[in-house]
Amino acid sequence: MQHLLPLRSQQKYNHMLNKKYPAFVRIVEVSPRDGLQNINHHVSTEVKAELINQLSMSGINHIEVGSFVSPKWVPQMANTEELIHVLKQPDNSHYIVLTPNSKGLDRAIECGVRDVAVFAAASETFSQKNTNCSIEESLLRFKPVVQRALDAGIRVRGYVSCVLGCPYEGEIDNNKVAEVSQALINMGCYEVSLGDTIGVGTPVKAQRMVEAVLKVIPAEKIALHFHDTRGQALANILACLEYGISTIDASVAGLGGCPYAEGASGNLATEEVIYMLDGMGIKTGVNLNQLIKAGQFITQQLGIQNNSRVATSGSPSNP
Ligand code: HMG
Ligand code: MG
Repeated sequence: MQHLLPLRSQQKYNHMLNKKYPAFVRIVEVSPRDGLQNINHHVSTEVKAELINQLSMSGINHIEVGSFVSPKWVPQMANTEELIHVLKQPDNSHYIVLTPNSKGLDRAIECGVRDVAVFAAASETFSQKNTNCSIEESLLRFKPVVQRALDAGIRVRGYVSCVLGCPYEGEIDNNKVAEVSQALINMGCYEVSLGDTIGVGTPVKAQRMVEAVLKVIPAEKIALHFHDTRGQALANILACLEYGISTIDASVAGLGGCPYAEGASGNLATEEVIYMLDGMGIKTGVNLNQLIKAGQFITQQLGIQNNSRVATSGSPSNP
């Protein structure tokens, strides 16, 4: 029978197993975009701004605040301009906005945004459903967008969706994920966020996918964006941290989903990620109690359930 070890011994044991977990993990908070894009009712600019301010106060300095996509496609993001204008962005922070095309970038430049993200997919059908074009067309469309952004001094992040499965095509080839990721890095994205859009992955599958991407991109340029539809996201992240990946996308209160991915539910709750990393002695710079307050604020405002088990477990304590 295996006995539980005291924490000190566990740390020693991990060391003996030669796990190479990073010392610091950077959190990219996506709730104001990925979380609120999937909410059925209108969320006011004031509520979004308060959420972002509270997230920022918790110590998170990479926040995806909205989208400059077509308001006909995603009406929930239509007030992104207004939001950018009311936000007081701290100097050391990165407030990221999605820009699917040249029109999106025009809007970002007009607002003085310093960080944008383009989003591609490893599935042809999802690419068509989400951006009305093939994977190849999307990459051709992004190339001048990324170049113009870089020329304007704007940093560009890249996304690849459906990296562990597609709601329309099922299994996705890891080589396709690697190919699209490399194309985004080659055109100038500083990192690629690998999206398990519908939360179908499991840990070893996630590791195989990451291994394929690591053949073409170093770990420092990879982020993980795992939706938690089947409760696997935290396990998948832990499995991939062993590869030295140190950027995790997450969403407070587990808010989220993609309107163009059937069955997509929320991202992994940021509270869960911070609780786990705190317990492993991995630094994030994020205050868990403050973060929990941000999650409580937004779920109360929206009148929805808080999907973070850490937040709803009672009084938060350090693991
Ligand atoms: P389209 O219909 O092919 O575009 O959509 P179009 O160029 O033919 O334009 C059609 C109309 O939209 C025109 O207006 C354009 O002006 C307007 P009209 O003449 O009919 O009045 N338009 C725009 N308006 C404002 N801003 C723009 C813009 N572009 C066109 N940027 C398009 C193509 C890409 C625009 C559309 O498909 C779109 O907006 N898609 C976005 C879908 C989306 O936001 N999905 C969710 C985000 S991705 C995600 O959640 C996954 C992720 O989380 C990772 C993961 O989990 O896997 C990132
Ligand atoms: Mg997502």
